[in-house]
Amino acid sequence: MSKTMKAMVYHGANDIRFEERPRPEILQPTDAVIRLTKTTICGTDLGIWKGKNPEIQDTAVAKTGLFDGRILGHEGIGIVEEVGSAVKNFKKGDKVIISCVSRCGTCENCQKQLYAHCQNEGGWIMGYMIDGTHAEYVRTPFADTSLYLLPEGLNEEVAVFLSDVLPTSHEIGVQYGNVKPGDTIAIVGTGPIGMGCLLTAQFYSPAQIIAVDMDDNRLAMAKELGATHTINSAKEDAVQRILEITGGRGVDCAMEAVGVEATWDICQNVVKEGGHIANVGVHGKSVNFELNKLWIKNLTITTGLVNTNTTGMLLKTCCSGKLPLEKLATHHFKFSEFEKAYDVFKHASDENAMKVMINYE
Ligand SMILES: NC(=O)c1ccc[n+]([C@@H]2O[C@H](COP(=O)([O-])OP(=O)(O)OC[C@H]3O[C@@H](n4cnc5c(N)ncnc54)[C@H](O)[C@@H]3O)[C@@H](O)[C@H]2O)c1
Ligand SMILES: [Zn+2]
Ligand SMILES: [Zn+2]
Repeated sequence: MSKTMKAMVYHGANDIRFEERPRPEILQPTDAVIRLTKTTICGTDLGIWKGKNPEIQDTAVAKTGLFDGRILGHEGIGIVEEVGSAVKNFKKGDKVIISCVSRCGTCENCQKQLYAHCQNEGGWIMGYMIDGTHAEYVRTPFADTSLYLLPEGLNEEVAVFLSDVLPTSHEIGVQYGNVKPGDTIAIVGTGPIGMGCLLTAQFYSPAQIIAVDMDDNRLAMAKELGATHTINSAKEDAVQRILEITGGRGVDCAMEAVGVEATWDICQNVVKEGGHIANVGVHGKSVNFELNKLWIKNLTITTGLVNTNTTGMLLKTCCSGKLPLEKLATHHFKFSEFEKAYDVFKHASDENAMKVMINYE
């Protein structure tokens, strides 16, 4: 069998290449190597491509003195090709959902369920600090606690949202945002993450869900998926509109699902006293934090990387058919068309794309 494979490799800001790389091998007894059958591109991958995360290169250079590229991607489904000697729950041939976060389960942070910050070779490292899923094969550390057996009958176009999008939206948006029955919430950014927030927020029956974006197609989909109000912030003053909708009071929870100052600014200006701002977006630059106005409001402001501690629960919800995520899978590409898939996702608004699926077989 060939020792190399094709992969999408990040070499630095605005420089990704579809090129030949060595096939991953088992490095630790707890590892598995997965042959991908489906993957997707995340807004975070786009952010990395655009240069939001220079720490990828900086960390590699600090550790080894050089950076020879990083395979992107942290979402996907595949077939177990090989497992390390300590892997108990999976075997060659199993079809699995790959979680974007791996966990050792024993370090101080894992014992606090803060798996995002596993102190061993875990946390969110795939497609970031180690090679990821935008390839024919990927090595997943701590396979026993980082893979989920794909249930028979579950639509794979739904299952792939369990790698990252759904747990992130639910944990970092909705749970950290403390969404409760009767709440009024604002979701700023209706990409896949914002849509995941919109769908999982409805587990908790908020009374009003205001979706904000600059893309009318995405806002139309948000309406279809349960938003009670939509605001195009490129055409209207989002803060003013949210205050009008809420009778001047503001929202109980504002979720930031973009990662830029303009959307953080909307959130900090619309949350009412006692409310929550749940920041989900990955920010590449600092923002203006109006503590001079906010200190008095008894707010809770949360940030975070997904822990994936609700993935199992979300998997069951997906199996029940209650989350129509397949609607988000707007574009499909073959593995050989990976560069085209990135290009379409980069121009998502013009292409009317929400989530691009890459199928291998
Ligand atoms: N915290 C975590 O663990 C975690 C995990 C996954 C993704 N993320 C981050 O979540 C964010 C969203 O991810 P995604 O995949 O949905 O990204 P995406 O790029 O598909 O969606 C972003 C949306 O924001 C909208 N937008 C951009 N600028 C805007 C503005 N000024 N005002 C209003 N809307 C604007 C875009 O039209 C788009 O619909 C990204 O920053 C991503 O890196 C965080
Ligand atoms: Zn992601
Ligand atoms: Zn750990």
